[in-house]
Amino acid sequence: MIAGVGAAVPAGTLTNADLEKTLDTSDAWIVERTGIRNRHIAATDETLTSYTLVAARQAMERAGVTAGEINGIIFATVTPDHRLPSAACNLQAALGAENAWAFDVVAACPGWLFGLSVAEGLMRSGLGDTILVVGAEKLSSITDFTDRGTAILFGDGAGAAIVKRATGDGRGILSTYMGADGNLASLLHIPGGGSAVPLTETLVRERQHMVKMAGREVFKAAVLAMSRSTDAAIARAGITPDAIDLLVPHQANLRIIEATAKHAEIGMDKVMVNVDRYGNTSSASIPLAIVQAEAEGRLKPGMVAMLVSFGAGFTWASVVVKW
Ligand code: ACO
Repeated sequence: MIAGVGAAVPAGTLTNADLEKTLDTSDAWIVERTGIRNRHIAATDETLTSYTLVAARQAMERAGVTAGEINGIIFATVTPDHRLPSAACNLQAALGAENAWAFDVVAACPGWLFGLSVAEGLMRSGLGDTILVVGAEKLSSITDFTDRGTAILFGDGAGAAIVKRATGDGRGILSTYMGADGNLASLLHIPGGGSAVPLTETLVRERQHMVKMAGREVFKAAVLAMSRSTDAAIARAGITPDAIDLLVPHQANLRIIEATAKHAEIGMDKVMVNVDRYGNTSSASIPLAIVQAEAEGRLKPGMVAMLVSFGAGFTWASVVVKW
């Protein structure tokens, strides 16, 4: 079961009005095509670990768990502080979680849902009963702020959950579903900077170490995969859509969220939306939305929530959870 969730964002913001000053774009276009109004952006010297620590401590406090009680840390990110070691090991040291194993999951936006699924599986096989699952990104470090097709979308943020063994009262993860299609990788990727195309001065000058995206194609694939994922998790949980109290979709684009809800026959009054505040924060997006939903009283113990996401890879995942 998810015993406590926390979230944090850097203090710095980037509004549509700010973007209008540097890009050929407008607040009206961004709001109409994406629903985004603001994003939080880390300062250059602000590390992913620094604000993830805030989110992790909040989740631990809410779950009543100390650092020494954590058996493992699963950190979903595509923007770790360093290529080596993992973001999970940096966080383990910062938390002083000396009894925890730690590793990263690279699954882009659905990474936190992949992490939840992995934690659940490890728990079933006896490899821990208190696992910290983090989804956190510093997407500003891989965003090309001269490309209006992507610069308007992404923000920084962190989310975390303490996952514990279910206590037998029916609360907990009811179903999980994960999928991938690597054939479509080039529609949303970073061409350079990996071991196949190492960093060079020319590569950096040409911004090949930044995210490249074919927006329209990604949009269509996202709607399809998110719709299929909701169907799959609902079927695996053995429930019908009317049993879902809150849909918490990946916050990438309001139009993708609306299309996913429509497909699942879930009214927008039961859909959590905060893409306007944070933009697309990739693996942090669902925990950021959950923390807000809890604060607004829209997600309470005993409710059934459907979490669904899609991202680069392509990857997709969904989780049905009784809160
Ligand atoms: N401001 C103004 N005009 C723009 C902007 C902008 N920021 N960006 C593109 N345009 C223009 C284009 O140049 C194009 O002009 P043209 O018709 O003269 O050629 C026109 O607007 C339409 O462009 P499209 O790309 O078709 O616009 P679309 O409605 O598809 O919106 C967007 C673009 C917002 C990127 C959309 O495709 C989208 O959200 N795609 C999915 C992105 C996404 O969710 N990615 C993340 C999922 S995975 C993950 O989360 C990492």
